[in-house]
Amino acid sequence: MKHLIAPSILSADFANLADDVEMINESSADWFHVDVMDGNFVPNISFGFPVIAAVNHYAKKPLDVHLMIVDPDRYLEDFKKVGAKVLTVHYEACTHLHRTVSKIKELGMKAGVAINPHTPVSVLEDIITDVDLVLIMSVNPGFGGQKFIENTYNKIKALRELCNKHNAEVLIEVDGGVNKHNALALLKAGADVLVAGNAVFSAEDPKHEIAELKKLNIE
Ligand code: DX5
Ligand code: ZN
Repeated sequence: MKHLIAPSILSADFANLADDVEMINESSADWFHVDVMDGNFVPNISFGFPVIAAVNHYAKKPLDVHLMIVDPDRYLEDFKKVGAKVLTVHYEACTHLHRTVSKIKELGMKAGVAINPHTPVSVLEDIITDVDLVLIMSVNPGFGGQKFIENTYNKIKALRELCNKHNAEVLIEVDGGVNKHNALALLKAGADVLVAGNAVFSAEDPKHEIAELKKLNIE
């Protein structure tokens, strides 16, 4: 499968969001990565339902919603209503992760589980056949523009092995500090989906930057 590119709108210009949504629509990006932060699970607050609904109204590609919030069970239906197609919760934020993942799928969304940099892939052993996607955080969640953590490569490889062992068809998404310098190595390690915020939106030509990430070829 050709890898997917998911620009993170956390780094978009919120005062001109329609322009950035349009840019992603016209680009070779596959998904919109939408970071929801509650000021509790992470030390930052991003945006909520009205903003996501507005983005969804103009977006011509699926919304990949990454919840960095405590107790996400309270809001799964609301995220469905505002247009989430992939809904990812944090392993660290869910006491009953199996129930949460099941509910997301019942609601008709793809279910993702995210793990923080300190959380080993091995904790996913008993849920791996139930999830559609695993998001490996390659920075500590909360902010865009942070430095990529090198141990991520080991985690991608470990996750790929875990998936193979269980015959699980899971997309491996990498989020944080991804740019054109590390993207190819991430794909070679086994990543399927690359999130990029700062690298895309700080570029002189964001659409070109997305195209550069998309055209990478691991063969
Ligand atoms: C960080 C978010 C990321 C962030 C990535 O908590 O989950 O999605 O937007 O941004 P960059 O690519 O700037 O590290
Ligand atoms: Zn994210």
